[in-house]
Formats: sequence, C-alpha cells, structure tokens
Amino acid sequence: MHTKMLPSTTFGARLLVRNVLPRMLLSRLESTGKVEYGLEKKWAYYNQQAIDKEASRPLRELTPTQLMFAGKSNNGSHLLKSSQFLQEELPRRIARRVKDFQSLPYVVAINPTLQSVYELYLRAFHKLTTFPKIKTLDDEKKYSTLLSQLLNDHTGVVTSLAKAFHEVKHQIPYELLGSLTERTLKSRLGIRLLAEHHLGLRLEKAGYIGVICVNMSPKSIVEKCVYNCKNLCEKTYSYAPTVFVSGHTKARFAHIPAPMEYILQELIKNAMKATVLKHIEKPSEIPPIEITICNNPTHLIIRISDRGGGISDAQLEEIFKYSFSTTKEEDDERYLQEHGCAFEGFMKAANSNSHCGTLSGYGFGLPSSLAYADFLGGSLNLVPMHGLGTDVYLKLSHIVDNEDCFRI
Ligand SMILES: Nc1ncnc2c1ncn2[C@@H]1O[C@H](COP(=O)(O)OP(=O)(O)O)[C@@H](O)[C@H]1O
Ligand SMILES: [Mg+2]
Repeated sequence: MHTKMLPSTTFGARLLVRNVLPRMLLSRLESTGKVEYGLEKKWAYYNQQAIDKEASRPLRELTPTQLMFAGKSNNGSHLLKSSQFLQEELPRRIARRVKDFQSLPYVVAINPTLQSVYELYLRAFHKLTTFPKIKTLDDEKKYSTLLSQLLNDHTGVVTSLAKAFHEVKHQIPYELLGSLTERTLKSRLGIRLLAEHHLGLRLEKAGYIGVICVNMSPKSIVEKCVYNCKNLCEKTYSYAPTVFVSGHTKARFAHIPAPMEYILQELIKNAMKATVLKHIEKPSEIPPIEITICNNPTHLIIRISDRGGGISDAQLEEIFKYSFSTTKEEDDERYLQEHGCAFEGFMKAANSNSHCGTLSGYGFGLPSSLAYADFLGGSLNLVPMHGLGTDVYLKLSHIVDNEDCFRI
C-alpha cells in the first residue's frame, strides 16, 4: 500500500539533504578534527550553488553522426577538443541528476542505498568541476584517467537503484521513483556514452570510432548475447534452449553496440528463463527460441520468439514497471545477496564475452531496456500469446543518413 505524503515532505527532505545534514556532519567534523577520510568526507564535496548553476545551463546533445565525424587529427587536437567539450558538458548533466535526487520525498531520500547513489553523483560533480581547465594533451590524459575512474565507480548504480526500488517501493507512489529511475537511466546512458566515446577515441580500436562500430554486424551481436545468456541459463537451470537466428543475417552498418547488447541480453534472458521453466518437466523437449533480424533503410528490427508460455493480460500491464518481477520474493533476496552487480556489465558487455549479470529477479530488465530503446530512437513491444509463448520486437533507429536519429 502506498503511503500518502504531505507536499511539504519533499521540501523537508530537500532542506535536510541540502542544508541540515551537511552542516550537522561538517560541524561534527570540525569538532573531531576529522576531515580527510570516512563517511563524512562526501559532504565536503557538497556545493549547492555550483550545482544549481551548472544544472541551469543548457545541454548540448549530439547526434551519433556528429560524434563519428568530429574528425581525427594526427596531433591529437581532436582529443583536446573532445575533452574540453566533456569538461563543460558533464557537470551540467550530473548537476541535474543531483537536483533530481534532492527532489525526492524524505522517506526515500534517507534510504541508505539511494544515498550511496546520490553521494556518487555528488562526488563525480566535485571531481569534474574542480579539475583544472584542460589546455594541453597532458591535461587531457589526466582528465581521461579521471573519467575512467568515475565510470568504474559508477558501474553499480543501476543495481543500487534496483535495490533501492525494492526497499522503498511500498512506501511511496510508484510514479515518483519510477520516473526518477527512468530519467537517471537515460541520462546515465548519455553520460556514459559520451565518456566512453572519448576514451574510445584515445584507444583507436580497429573498426571503431569511439563507441561507434563502423561496420557492425547485428548477427554477431545477437550471437554474442545468445552465448552469454546460454551460459547463464545453463548455470542456473542446467538447461538452455537452442537459438536459431535468421533474416537479414548479412546486414552490416555503423551503430553503437553496447546499449544494443544490454537490451538483447535482457530480452534473451527473459525468453530463455520462460522457456526452460515452462518445459522443466521434459527438458528433452525444450523448444528453440527464434531470433529474426530485419534491416530496412531507417531501422533495425529484431524479433525474439519464444515458447515460454507467454504472459497474461493482467501481468502485461505490470511487466514494464520497474521492480515488477514474477521471480519469487525469496529468490529476489537471494539474487540481491548473491550477485552484487547485476547490471554493471552494460558497457563491459561490449568488450567481454561472459558478462550479462543475473538471469532475473530485479524486475529491471524490461523497463530499463524500454528506456534505452527509447533513448536510441526506437521502441520495444511485447506481444504475448498467453498459453504458448511471446514475441518481443526491438526496433532501433539507424544512425547514419537518418535525420530523425536520436541525440546523445
Ligand atoms: N519472454 C517472456 N515470457 C514470459 N514472461 C516474460 C517474458 N519476458 C518477461 N516476462 C515477465 O516479465 C517480468 C519482468 O521482466 P524483467 O523486467 O526482465 O524482470 P525479471 O526478469 O528480473 O523478472 C518477468 O518476471 C516475467 O514474469
Ligand atoms: Mg529479466
């Protein structure tokens, strides 16, 4: 049941988080003389005026083509320009996240898991805004080191959000935390893509311009995700369905593989789990999953068809909600305890062969995939045939020669 809140609760929380808590902690610091280490240190990062100022600045969202054709110079000036852009852009985006957390009602804001995410953003804001103005390639190198550290520090953010959601979902109306989670995920995806793009430019990986794979094969991406999910499914249930891939399997074009891999893995995990559980009594008769790739001038469409029993109409309304899962509550607890970071692999997925988190349990797979598909100028539709199976359609916008493409 939802707790009804007074409007002033939000304000109370803001006051507490912005003013009272930092001052309380700082005065404790002064009296104890502790300034450098421990829990208290995070509050030393706190500068509301700077946060407000950065948050009010307009964002400069780029199309993937702008990222791809920004140019490459032999003297590294493209790296300098790219880092200078990030130095202006990232604080604005992070400041907006910080303010978003500050707008949460007290009952949620005091949740320790959510506090840890808030602190990560505060800390990132502090580190990025106190970095000296980038003037030379040496500065750029140091800035890039800072970026990779921050990316690393923030890998567990989605898992923490999922955990926090689980902890407070019965205390506040769904929309409140649902919409914040949605904004956080989308903004986080943009920030990570920009930062990874810059780091990718430095690495000069063959076939890539930053995060963009210039000749990406959707079939290879699908196969890699199938491989990862099969391993996970076999580890969890001892069986995994066979997967057939058909359609435009020879298609190749420029795209950003990382978020696509994340989404596909979540969808394939769901299809595999449903299929295995439906046929667990007769494992030798586990039906295959069929994945069809369709490439047209404007979009890439991938259909995943399973015979996992489908979803009832009543559940269909719920499954795109954050934290809705039919994985049992006790399993939920077990997953949270056993697997620290279920979603951390989003960017790692692009570079590794084994990472796709846990099979299920957080109820974040579908809603986060929908948020990412939406971010990428696409859509995610689930068409169940309750009693038999499910077809899931993932549609993503092409990034080249596409005026209506998304912005990062
Ligand atoms: N292909 C599918 N077949 C049957 N049920 C599905 C399928 N995909 C998703 N679901 C249902 O939707 C719920 C939410 O999915 P998701 O957001 O990925 O969370 P999780 O996998 O952690 O439970 C699942 O618990 C399951 O009940
Ligand atoms: Mg799932």
